[in-house]
Amino acid sequence: MSGRLVGVGVGPGDPELLTVKGLRVLREADEVFVPVADTGEVGRAEATVREYLDRERITRLLFALSDDREAREHNWTNAAREVSDHLRGGKTCAFATIGDPNVYSTFTYLARTVREMLPEVEVETVPGITALQDLASRSGTILLEGDERLALLPFTAGEEPLREALAGFETVVCYKGGRRLGEVLGVAEECGRLEGAVYGARLGIEGEEILPARGMAGREGTYLSTVIFTGREREEGS
Ligand SMILES: C[S@@+](CC[C@H](N)C(=O)[O-])C[C@H]1O[C@@H](n2cnc3c(N)ncnc32)[C@H](O)[C@@H]1O
Repeated sequence: MSGRLVGVGVGPGDPELLTVKGLRVLREADEVFVPVADTGEVGRAEATVREYLDRERITRLLFALSDDREAREHNWTNAAREVSDHLRGGKTCAFATIGDPNVYSTFTYLARTVREMLPEVEVETVPGITALQDLASRSGTILLEGDERLALLPFTAGEEPLREALAGFETVVCYKGGRRLGEVLGVAEECGRLEGAVYGARLGIEGEEILPARGMAGREGTYLSTVIFTGREREEGS
């Protein structure tokens, strides 16, 4: 008999952004896992979970510790093996991940590898509040109205996808661009989309910054940075 693997989105940083359902699932799980990585996500999911659960209830899983693909895959396999051992015994295992577990999440890799090991495992997710939603809320940014469309992309995909998105969508959200912020803002400037754009870093975490993106010109950001381009000025009074 194999158990249940649940990916729980715990929000971008502020522990109050963990949903009631997410908290219930974490509390009821037999085992609670959190990723440990060198991507800037280090400890973020864990820090949120620790606000609600005792440390002894939390098991760390080592994920990407290197840019080396082979080393990364090795870590994922080890992590999946550890979780699978518990699932084989019929346990419910929860895996906490920042933001939403279906949006650029380590949970996707974990679930895929676990499924290869245990094809009959039940996999579920509990949605979490994404960084883009938190940034929109905290900066008073309306994401979409009427017929408008939104594109979400990682800057790791390169400059061209960002250029195409800025040309084709009313609202564009750029993830994973913090360390190359100068390039992100350069592309936006070229496309005439810098006005009204907002930058958010380390949302809900110590060192948080929320600024008009223009104010970041010439500065680099951190890995946990998000930029929203709306082409609209920020809401009055926010
Ligand atoms: C691996 S993705 C994780 C996305 C996450 N699953 C979500 O739903 O928002 C990491 C990227 O999410 C964004 N991000 C996540 N947490 C953030 C935070 N606290 N502040 C700003 N950006 C954040 C950044 O763009 C970062 O590079």
